Amino acid sequence: MQRYQNPSLILESANIKEGKVHWTCPSNIALIKYWGKHGLQLPKNPSISFTLDNAVTTTSVSYVASNDNRISFDFIFNNSRRDDFKPKIQTFLERISVIFPFLKQLHLTIESTNSFPHSTGIASSASSMGALALCLCTLEEKLFGTSMPKNEFYRKASYIARVGSGSASRSVYPVAALWGEFADIKDSSDEYAIPVQDLLHPVFQSFQDHILIVSAEEKSVSSTIGHALMDGNIYADSRYQQAKSRLHFLMPALKSGDLETFGKILEDEALTLHALMMTSNPSYLLMRSGTLSIIEKLRTFRMSTNIPAYFTLDAGPNVHLLFPENYTEIMSDFIQNELSQYCNGNIINDKVGLGPKV
Ligand code: DP6
Repeated sequence: MQRYQNPSLILESANIKEGKVHWTCPSNIALIKYWGKHGLQLPKNPSISFTLDNAVTTTSVSYVASNDNRISFDFIFNNSRRDDFKPKIQTFLERISVIFPFLKQLHLTIESTNSFPHSTGIASSASSMGALALCLCTLEEKLFGTSMPKNEFYRKASYIARVGSGSASRSVYPVAALWGEFADIKDSSDEYAIPVQDLLHPVFQSFQDHILIVSAEEKSVSSTIGHALMDGNIYADSRYQQAKSRLHFLMPALKSGDLETFGKILEDEALTLHALMMTSNPSYLLMRSGTLSIIEKLRTFRMSTNIPAYFTLDAGPNVHLLFPENYTEIMSDFIQNELSQYCNGNIINDKVGLGPKV
């Protein structure tokens, strides 16, 4: 078990200077989904994702000394104070204060902006918790004059990000990341994600992800509640086994560039995620009619053209279309002509990206 608790990270209060740290962190799209958790944000099954490029959160954390001996911060999102976001961040900062005890000696001003509208249903918790976790790891180094080797720095950031939001653990690495213990991959862990870029065929390293925003409305059931409903789902245990078995077949496909196997597993996973929602108690449905129309049109298009374009879904109605870079032009035409009617032309063109930036 990784032990990051460090009671010695306490500052000499007379020497605390004010300062600021910054990070930009991307969102990610899961290929094998994390759905179901236990303990302190530990996953019930391993998951793997592509890191995105354009959908990012930029966060800065300014700090000044405070002698309250408690967590104290303000949160500003897109230039306005957002007290409604504070409880989630408060819980997160409380949880990690055993790792960063100096947090109780500071008052923080956390300022965040997203490159994508907050209401698009894009997983903003992954990029925002990723960016905040990176800022806090940099803050530790700055305040204590330490510097970790790069791989250890990102591992710790991934661990911290996971405590904030499970999927955020995967956002701190370039190209692709795997989170959760998985027998085929040494070093995999439930506590943090690991980078898996080296296990990917070049075709996947420049993969496109065009996101069709079918509905930007707030989800009727949040991911937090969705995870909790897995505890009573009668398919839960077989689902967790299935995720491992799919990952076992997906990894060699990712390595060899086997697009057909990749695409089949990708789509099966998306539909399984939504089937789990429909079979929860109470049951709920996050797909919309536009979601199904896009899926059907894509499958017909694929049959007639043999273009290896596949869909996946997050916990919402929006459709991610994934395909190799060399099909970008033809896919953009297809999306414009046949699919944009189902999302009012609301499309985000994204792709696999190179990870967070200072
Ligand atoms: C469907 O990471 O948002 O996107 O840990 O409660 O913050 P919390 O949940 P979250 O769940 C993401 C679920 C998913 C699948 C995935 O990204 O693996």
